[in-house]
Amino acid sequence: MRVSGRKNAAVALIPAALLSDEEVVLENVPEIGDVATYLEILDGLGAEVASPGGGVVRISPRRLGSRPVPEHLAKQMRASYYLLGVLLGRFGEADVGLPGGCDIGSRPIDQHVKALAAMGATVEIKNGRVRARAERLRGARVYLDIVSVGATIHAILAASRAEGLTVIENAAKEPHVVDVANLVNAMGGHVVGAGTDVVKVQGTARMGRAEHVVIPDEIEAATLMMAAAATGGDVRVEGVVTKHLESVIAKLGEAGASVEADADWVRVVGPERPRAVQVKTLPYPGFPTDAQQPMTSLLARADGTSTVTETIHEARFRHVDELRRMGARIRVEGRTALIEGVAELTGAPVQASDLRAAAALVVAGLSAQGTTELAGVEYLDRGYERLEDKLARLGARIARVPATART
Ligand code: EPZ
Repeated sequence: MRVSGRKNAAVALIPAALLSDEEVVLENVPEIGDVATYLEILDGLGAEVASPGGGVVRISPRRLGSRPVPEHLAKQMRASYYLLGVLLGRFGEADVGLPGGCDIGSRPIDQHVKALAAMGATVEIKNGRVRARAERLRGARVYLDIVSVGATIHAILAASRAEGLTVIENAAKEPHVVDVANLVNAMGGHVVGAGTDVVKVQGTARMGRAEHVVIPDEIEAATLMMAAAATGGDVRVEGVVTKHLESVIAKLGEAGASVEADADWVRVVGPERPRAVQVKTLPYPGFPTDAQQPMTSLLARADGTSTVTETIHEARFRHVDELRRMGARIRVEGRTALIEGVAELTGAPVQASDLRAAAALVVAGLSAQGTTELAGVEYLDRGYERLEDKLARLGARIARVPATART
């Protein structure tokens, strides 16, 4: 099964394309809700956007202007924050509704503001909006108090059109940070060190055409691999960068799955019953927080007691209540879920509370006895491209039920 382009790369590459003065062509862009929302925002800003299909998106910023970004669009996702640095870098001003995104914690943007202020911007947050102004962004030294993927990427985007050198310290090392740096460099930017904790960006006055292929979605791959491990299935995910999946491969092996891999594919054969393991989410290359929820579903059926510690987001266990309705025995204490594995889960009507909770409940439903009806499937569509089709092609009995037909 081929995975789609990575959501969290695509929602950064799309605003990054606005830094260019000429057309940028993105390929392998996933057809997901957050991308559609972003393209609607670009249209409102005057950028010309064409989506001829097949994952291709052509963005021409020739008629781009810095106009207020509507709140109802900005708050549909977290990644709208990138527009601040991009519009500041291009036009010296930005007015963007506060970002939204999954309800998995407070998710402040103080590190984003710190980076923009260091480059000379004045930033104010009021009336549910972020307004920023700067005569001209200037290169600066930015130390991020917390390893933040969004703030790292945001600082790279703002710095790429600033005057002079920016040094970003304590930077996040996620693969999509590197993917964004690669696009900025392809457009004529000068980013060095992406993927390490110190990233240097030399600002440029102009940027030009570029073509770029979005990296594969490591979290979608992890979700499909966990579905196989949870159901005793045999699944081969293709078009991945196996290196990005090292921590997930290690954990699934510990949990009793047999995993074979080459550079761009991974095969997972699930055990009869998973073994209990200890999981702790950490910034890349640690175990990815976005795969924590499907992993919790897998461990709900493990033979033994597992612990899952979520160090990145404060409130990323809302799927646990729903798993309990399926017979799971999980206790959450602070940032750790204590999972006493049960031999089997039972199907039930469950409600998704966020994107990866929806994915976790799909994995749990596939491994349960009986039928599970998942409400809140719109969360799934924000970040997965037709997940149920992919799973059905892998042998799952799963179908989307029109709202009217729901019991
Ligand atoms: C990105 O969110 C992803 N979203 C998240 O994926 C992912 O969980 C997260 O990175 C970590 O990998 C997008 O890329 C659109 P952070 P982001 O800044 O940028 C705190 C998914 O399921 N923080 O690395 O918000 C923050 O509250 C989503 O696809 C501050 O305190 O993540 C969190 O506790 C969910 N101040 C921690 O840092 C800030 O200014 C890491 O957040 C910024 C972040």
